[in-house]
Amino acid sequence: MASGHLTRAEALAHKGVRHACHVMLYCDAQALLFGTISIRHIVLMQMRFDGLLGFPGGLVNPLEESLEAGLSRELMEEMGMAPPVSEEDHVASCYAPPTSSSSSSSSTPPLITHFYVKKVEEEQIRALEKAGPSTAIDHGLEVLGVVRVPLYSMTDGGGLPSFLSNGFAGNARAQLLDALTRFHLVAPDDLCQALATCTQILA
Ligand code: GTP
Ligand code: MN
Ligand code: MN
Ligand code: MN
Ligand code: MN
Ligand code: MN
Repeated sequence: MASGHLTRAEALAHKGVRHACHVMLYCDAQALLFGTISIRHIVLMQMRFDGLLGFPGGLVNPLEESLEAGLSRELMEEMGMAPPVSEEDHVASCYAPPTSSSSSSSSTPPLITHFYVKKVEEEQIRALEKAGPSTAIDHGLEVLGVVRVPLYSMTDGGGLPSFLSNGFAGNARAQLLDALTRFHLVAPDDLCQALATCTQILA
């Protein structure tokens, strides 16, 4: 991610802040779209109540629960299942950009977002995709559905470029781009090209 990184320990030492934890769950996958385009990996995000894309997770109070226990609680609420996510899966923490709601009420403490990435088996991803509608208490409320991120780019801008032109909650878009590079899910040149095409789509 860009500047402003904090380690997990540094972030926890900050006083008078709120904390939120989100996770990117992904797996390797072999399937071919239209018989020709390898999907390569399945990366999960969600459509939120506010119409923005984000990662599953939410607000955690470190005085009451560990960051990872809080993340697990949010995953149960939002996805109906919680694959184990541990301290080793922590990637980065940083201050969230101020939002219109947080800047209007000066009493709201700043928010630090903690980002985790966890690789799981494809069967686990498929189980997560099924669990939400039947068991997650927030399904249809805070969470409108799990979505897969298209990692390929088509000549007309379809795929990743179009996906990136959607609206994202907080730092979620930067977290996604960081993770795609860091975990070698999209080649750096392909990601640059996708971002350039996305900029054209948004212009
Ligand atoms: P409530 O249960 O309604 O309190 O929501 P929540 O605990 O699930 O919190 P949420 O997931 O909405 O995350 C809290 C704040 O973090 C939001 O207000 C967003 O601004 C921000 N946020 C939401 N999703 C993401 C995400 O994927 N990444 C980052 N960095 N921030 C996010
Ligand atoms: Mn078809
Ligand atoms: Mn949430
Ligand atoms: Mn939640
Ligand atoms: Mn919550
Ligand atoms: Mn909630």
